[in-house]
Amino acid sequence: MTFAKTLLRLGSLLSLATAAQAAYAIQDSFDQTNFFEGFEFFSGPDPTNGFVKYTTAMQANGSSYAGYANNGVYLGVDYETKNPLGGRPSVRVNSKKTYTKGLFIADIAHQPAPKCGQWPAFWMFGGPVWPLGGEIDIIEGVNMGTNTTYTLHTSAGCTFSQDSFSSGDCNAPGTGTIGCGAPSQDTRTFGDGFNEIGGGVFAVEWTSQAIKIYFFPRTGPMPDDIAGDAPNPAAWGAPAASFSGGVCDIDSHFKDHQIVFDTTFCGDWAGKVFSDDPVCSAKAATCQDYVANNPEEFRDSYWLINSVKVYSESGSGAVRRRRFTA
Ligand SMILES: *[C@@H]1O[C@H](CO)[C@@H](O)[C@H](O)[C@H]1NC(C)=O
Ligand SMILES: *[C@@H]1O[C@H](CO)[C@@H](O)[C@H](O)[C@H]1NC(C)=O
Repeated sequence: MTFAKTLLRLGSLLSLATAAQAAYAIQDSFDQTNFFEGFEFFSGPDPTNGFVKYTTAMQANGSSYAGYANNGVYLGVDYETKNPLGGRPSVRVNSKKTYTKGLFIADIAHQPAPKCGQWPAFWMFGGPVWPLGGEIDIIEGVNMGTNTTYTLHTSAGCTFSQDSFSSGDCNAPGTGTIGCGAPSQDTRTFGDGFNEIGGGVFAVEWTSQAIKIYFFPRTGPMPDDIAGDAPNPAAWGAPAASFSGGVCDIDSHFKDHQIVFDTTFCGDWAGKVFSDDPVCSAKAATCQDYVANNPEEFRDSYWLINSVKVYSESGSGAVRRRRFTA
């Protein structure tokens, strides 16, 4: 190898190293300065049949269910009205933009504190017909739950071999309604355990090869680059959940996702298991009775979001190709 060639080679390797660190570049950032420009209110009937009335942007702002507060984005519910007609007023917002693959980082200060009948979620999904575009659930739980369950839902033909599932089939039990879930073994990921430490940061890395979910509690350790413009999840250690291996063409099962935050009540999950929960079933005959009659219980049923950032893969592919042709 000539001296010139060696230099050239060295140059490519150096740019490769730089590119590997900058594999993700910031695409969108939503926080207290612009969140409601990038997210819209969903005010239709709850697709999960909850005892909830999702409000419009104007209703939510007028009744202080949503707005900018405490240097973040507040998304709450009605905690004053007894027997609200048609369901307890609440908020469901989704990103106006849709995303396919990328790195999604949400810094959250507070989640709805667990209550009987409640079902909060931070999730992503693609249309037009569920579950064809796939769904990624990052924070989700019901009633007095203590840990999040990371779950994917897909159409048939997507099975991962990761070992922390009861079933790796994301279409389980055949309609996608159970999906493939990885229950977190960390009480700091959900509800009171999360709120007591001032929350933390969740990240989803979605590539053609894997969907990985990370959680970093506010109390640390937190990666230095997580709030920056070019985070590198490859250096973050093991994710909290990794959906990989097995037989799943991620590119055909997951696409065009909106990012969603909501709080619903009762319905297809919280309502279904209400009577199985010894604490909740002792409080009221039905889920709806409890949610309708105890507004004051839902004062802490709010999200406080510091930021949601979306990053896309950048440049590294081009640099890698250069290395092989040099
Ligand atoms: C809510 O309404 C108030 C008063 O009209 C306005 O100043 C504020 O910007 C609105 N908030 C949002 C998030 O739109
Ligand atoms: C929640 O996490 C704790 C550890 O923090 C664990 O002991 C417990 O079994 C988990 N609960 C569930 C339902 O997985």
